[in-house]
Amino acid sequence: MLKQSLFLHRHAHAHPRDVIPIHLGGASSPILILPSTTRTKNRSKSAAGILRVSGVRAALTSAEKSTAVKAVVTVLRTVGGALTHLGLTRGLDDIGDLLGKTLLLEMVSADLDSATGKEKSTIKSYAKSSGKKGDEVYYESSLVVPQDFGEVGAILVENEHHNDMFVDSIIVKGLPAGDVQFTCNSWVHSKFDNPEKRVFFANKSYLPTKTPNGLRRLRESELKTLRGDGKGERKKFDRIYDYDLYNDLGDPDSGDDFVRPILGGPQNPYPRRCRTGRPKTKKDPLSESRSSFVYVPRDESFSEVKQATFSVKTVYSLLHALVPSLESFFVDNTEGFPHFNAIDTLFVEGIDLPTANKSLVDVIPRIFKAITEAETKILRFETPRMIDRDSFSWIKDSEFARQTLAGANACCIQLVTEWPIKSKLDPLVYGPAESAITDELVQYQIGGVTSVDEAVKQKKLFLLDYHDFLLPFVNDVRSLKGTTLYGSRTLFFLMPDGALRPIAIELTRPPINGNPVWRQVFQPSWDATGIWLWRLARSHVLAHDSGYHQLVSHWLRTHCCTEPYIIAANRQLSAMHPIHRLLKPHFRYTMEINALAREALINNNGIIEKGFTPGKYSILLSSVAYAQQWRFDLQALPADLIHRGVAVEDPSAPHGLKLTIEDYPYASDGLLLWDAIKQWVTDYVTYYYPDSATVESDGELQAWWFEVRTVGHGDKKDEPWWPDSKTFDGLIHILTTIIWVASGHHAAVNFGQFDFAGYFPNRPTIARTPMPTEEASEAVFRRFLEKPEDFLLESFPSQVQATVVMSILDVLSSHSPDEEYIGEKMEPYYAENGTVKGAFEQFQGRLKEIEGIIDARNANLELKNRTGAGVVPYELLKPYSEPGVTAKGVPSSISI
Ligand SMILES: [Fe+2]
Repeated sequence: MLKQSLFLHRHAHAHPRDVIPIHLGGASSPILILPSTTRTKNRSKSAAGILRVSGVRAALTSAEKSTAVKAVVTVLRTVGGALTHLGLTRGLDDIGDLLGKTLLLEMVSADLDSATGKEKSTIKSYAKSSGKKGDEVYYESSLVVPQDFGEVGAILVENEHHNDMFVDSIIVKGLPAGDVQFTCNSWVHSKFDNPEKRVFFANKSYLPTKTPNGLRRLRESELKTLRGDGKGERKKFDRIYDYDLYNDLGDPDSGDDFVRPILGGPQNPYPRRCRTGRPKTKKDPLSESRSSFVYVPRDESFSEVKQATFSVKTVYSLLHALVPSLESFFVDNTEGFPHFNAIDTLFVEGIDLPTANKSLVDVIPRIFKAITEAETKILRFETPRMIDRDSFSWIKDSEFARQTLAGANACCIQLVTEWPIKSKLDPLVYGPAESAITDELVQYQIGGVTSVDEAVKQKKLFLLDYHDFLLPFVNDVRSLKGTTLYGSRTLFFLMPDGALRPIAIELTRPPINGNPVWRQVFQPSWDATGIWLWRLARSHVLAHDSGYHQLVSHWLRTHCCTEPYIIAANRQLSAMHPIHRLLKPHFRYTMEINALAREALINNNGIIEKGFTPGKYSILLSSVAYAQQWRFDLQALPADLIHRGVAVEDPSAPHGLKLTIEDYPYASDGLLLWDAIKQWVTDYVTYYYPDSATVESDGELQAWWFEVRTVGHGDKKDEPWWPDSKTFDGLIHILTTIIWVASGHHAAVNFGQFDFAGYFPNRPTIARTPMPTEEASEAVFRRFLEKPEDFLLESFPSQVQATVVMSILDVLSSHSPDEEYIGEKMEPYYAENGTVKGAFEQFQGRLKEIEGIIDARNANLELKNRTGAGVVPYELLKPYSEPGVTAKGVPSSISI
């Protein structure tokens, strides 16, 4: 066998630089080298006279039978990428582009050489800039593919620009078997940053055992690259997916007040986050230092693609520009609203913020308005729909109850299954186990309808229970300034017409500073004092629900718990794995928004700590929820509903479940979506896995799930409830659950935030002052009697807390213009295959049907929990939406 390279020149004057020797992949077979300018039509004529090396006949024959093909690379123009005309090195790159020496492509055969059993030589050629359209820039390369090359299975790309570039796709045209598509959607690093070539696999998906032999080594080596070596600080252009503890929320070097517990590990169980490798802090060798740049693997950060992360960018601007302006605007950070009219002002006149950056007008026009003539900058909020439709809705018990079924946190209500209600906490520490909500108190509210025993038996009593969860935090939280806390239980009665009615709120304070336990039950009343006490107690419950919603239902259950699935998927499932491709749309932007959350929302002195009841204990609370409550199996909607007692299995009922509260909008719409996702996942999985044995023998798949369980969610690794990933049904269950959480569950708890909490009296994030009855001080109680409204206003968030949180909720509730809704986009990988394409089209059809079903439900006045006079219809699980704050639309992924 020839050791030297063969040179095939187009004509006698070919410059030696046009000839590219290739020694790749350990191939020892003769290597055919074709310059990019080679054309089939003049090959036979020119080749004969030029080939100088003995033994060329075979290659010549091969070349004679070869095909001229064209590879077209679509690159997106980005802000800061290779094609922005911004970088200092741009001049050099322009020259490179002119010379056609900036983007080197190598086609990789899916087959091994039949003679040697080794990888075939790649076919290599530069791609030249060939035109542009809008933000798309095209590069083209002409290559010659020998007849025996086999299927083109992968393309290696080397970016010789000085900046990375965002490659959208590559298509190889003119192959005898048809065009081959490569969907890239990826940043290709500059070779000056990292000399390793990027590999893109064609759109055809393969289970590991079915990987074409010519791609096996690349499949494995690519995963190894993505896993990294766990060392060093990650750089912006890196693509490494690795794990770390949440040890970057505190800032020990800034002082004791800034220390926060490290989350993750036996003491404070938590999911893992993406490893960034930043230096450790000086004071605590276990904590990572904070930085303004927070690494996420390059492809998780699409922020420089135009519009792509509109929302992430907006949040960023808000946090870095608006929040400081607000904080400096209010002289006294603790000052509350003097009267209700002052709250209304936020939606009418707004606040003149002279110190705000004017660019905010462009970034967040919905909440920040410029009155240009006067050079005035006004922060003014849109009126949330529920207040626009009914300005009194926030004060109604009917609306308070309805929102437990159709509000921003409609996933916490549970059936009362034992009576009397009992705490599981230690009575010696926290007081009596038995609830103070007695038979008599309940009977007083529901008497005439039924007895308490009957009500429990007939599943008519429901609970919003923040007693055992919050009580252990009460003393710590009460040691902080400007906040207070109780354990709370709110009891509801299911009326014959299907609506819930709140009938009792129990607030409990454990023994504190030598004082005994304090607890009191408040009930809806018909006397002035009782009515105001009830309102105040309800405001405390709403603050508890608001905190639980943000820290647990939203952050923990969706954003935080999903990150390990993404990290593990990228480390263990090849980009050509069908399950990788099934999940990919559901992981879009999640790591980036989570990094931003660590930077400015959930960090020490971040937005959450400053605006929510538990203050500096907020994020620790989410760790306790993870330790005590989070189970993967219960993230599946049907299992969650059954667990909360709001549904029972019933094979004859739609979705196989009978709802205990029939008109439960979150559950009934959620089940439509759950079933549609499950059907799509089942069809997809069935195509690739004929049986459980195939599932079990998929090494990548099993490694992915093993890593999710034992590393990413390693603090839960020994739990018995993890689904079995080795069976067909187990796999479907796992995938459906992950997709439901990223789409439906997240949408239900995310996009209603401004509608329901934008007018904060409806859902205050904090209750700052205790009940006037707690201290039993005559002076306090007299003041309450004189002006109870002041007590409510004092308890509400301060002006700065309210306006900061309202701004954040507005942006978090917003869909970006390029939002990708569930089932909306046929991924090219799916379109590649007739069966999968058909299944996805059915999924799309089903989602459109669901839109219609939800509209019909919202038009049905019988369904009192979702529609009625002044009621905002429940649309949070309607799949599609226009951009902006719409309180509807289910994006595929957690991207905001
Ligand atoms: Fe979110």
